Amino acid sequence: MTKICCIGAGYVGGPTMAMIAKQCPDVQVNVVDINEKRIAAWQTDDLPIYEPGLLEVVQAARGRNLFFSTDVDQGIRDADIVFVSVNTPTKTFGEGAGCASDLQYWELCARRIQEVSTSDKIIVEKSTLPVRTAEAMERVLHSGDNPVHFEVLSNPEFLAEGTAIADLENPDRVLIGGHETPSGQKALQALVDIYAQWIPRERILTANVWSAELSKLTANAFLAQRVSSINAISALCEATEADVGEVAHAIGTDSRIGPKFLKASIGFGGSCFKKDILNLVYLCETYGLQAPADYWRQVVAMNEYQETRFVKTMLRSMFNTIAGKRIAILGFAFKADTGDTRESPAIRVCRELAGEHAQVVVSDPQAIENAKLEMPDLLDQIEFEEDPYIAVEGAHAVALLTEWKQYKELDFQRIYDSMAKPAFIFDGRNMLDHQALFDIGFEVYSIGKGRKTHLK
Ligand code: UDX
Ligand code: UDX
Repeated sequence: MTKICCIGAGYVGGPTMAMIAKQCPDVQVNVVDINEKRIAAWQTDDLPIYEPGLLEVVQAARGRNLFFSTDVDQGIRDADIVFVSVNTPTKTFGEGAGCASDLQYWELCARRIQEVSTSDKIIVEKSTLPVRTAEAMERVLHSGDNPVHFEVLSNPEFLAEGTAIADLENPDRVLIGGHETPSGQKALQALVDIYAQWIPRERILTANVWSAELSKLTANAFLAQRVSSINAISALCEATEADVGEVAHAIGTDSRIGPKFLKASIGFGGSCFKKDILNLVYLCETYGLQAPADYWRQVVAMNEYQETRFVKTMLRSMFNTIAGKRIAILGFAFKADTGDTRESPAIRVCRELAGEHAQVVVSDPQAIENAKLEMPDLLDQIEFEEDPYIAVEGAHAVALLTEWKQYKELDFQRIYDSMAKPAFIFDGRNMLDHQALFDIGFEVYSIGKGRKTHLK
């Protein structure tokens, strides 16, 4: 029986390993993490992350061939294949601060693997890493006098939160990078054989290690760039009475452009896009490529502009003062169907509104606890209320920041009736029926579309 160990039971490691265990009953999967609380939660039905369909997948395999533990050393020692899926945040200190990846957790893992291993192993980079990290990883792994051989593969994960289970079950592709040596190719084949148990072989792409590493950064940079591109156009639409939805539809029907990832929004969030683009920027700079570095940096700059622009629109439309006004934030997660708030645009919006002395009340069906963790310094200034109807009571404005589908079904007449007048609504996701809201009496603002106002 092949034994897998995955270090890191987070948003990526947890769901990915649960899917491998479910699909491959002949593979034993041990997920290990230094965080005891997280591991304990994985052992219950109250999982540490919210992801539709995840519990069913975990339940199908847990206790059979899927195990969660804090015994990292034992997990490593027993394994034939070790996935490393620990977090690689943006560095906050020293050389490359604010841009480069902080590889300290990842290096600690490599050292641990090197120290405790007593048999040859395949090491799989699951975390997103800078290109050529495998080289450094190999140096660490083969330092010292442990005779064990480690073969490093890059197998970046492309799942998106909220749709992780569908993405894992039926991915566009799986990418595996290996060295072009006999042992590299043998290791690569071993991993291909695991994925091939449920994914058609033609969707399992193989590449050299550096291409695989760089493809992950590039994929995220391209996706984020599409969002920033349409958001840049949304600003122009607001100035010209063009409608960004119509523009997106018109360009998206060109098969060379395609319709996906063209939704203008308050901005992209999530743990990956900003971090990975900044990482790409840093890599370009490291290789002396200033123009490509500047090019990609603009994608992040445009995103920050979009978030700030949203708050400016709120402020201007509400007569240039929001001090003391109650503003209800509907949705704090960085996208729907997740409780994840990392890099959520809602963070900047709430901070800027609080900076204007507005009375901010945050509502979200899944992300209230994480929202509190994002703004520890503002807990006495910001209110948190899961029930949207209570959150909007007496509010001067509602700002919809996450596209939770239940927000579409809210009774907006009831909301309007309970709000202060004039009642403003700012749809940061362009998901509501703006004409219907206007007919109820709302002042309606959205992204990249003309405003609808009853005021002279
Ligand atoms: C992952 C990837 O690792 C990251 O590089 C990628 O860009 C996004 O997805 P994610 O799963 O979202 O990160 O991270 P997180 O939820 O923070 O999980 C990482 C886990 O690793 C944590 O539970 C943490 O406790 C664990 N960890 C970290 C260890 O077990 N050992 C360590 O030394 C460090
Ligand atoms: C992303 C990548 O999609 C995934 O392949 C990678 O493995 C991790 O990073 P994720 O961050 O989970 O996944 O979510 P994604 O669906 O890509 O959305 C990212 C952000 O962009 C969200 O804030 C979302 O609301 C925003 N977005 C997305 C838009 O504003 N408009 C769009 O058209 C699409």
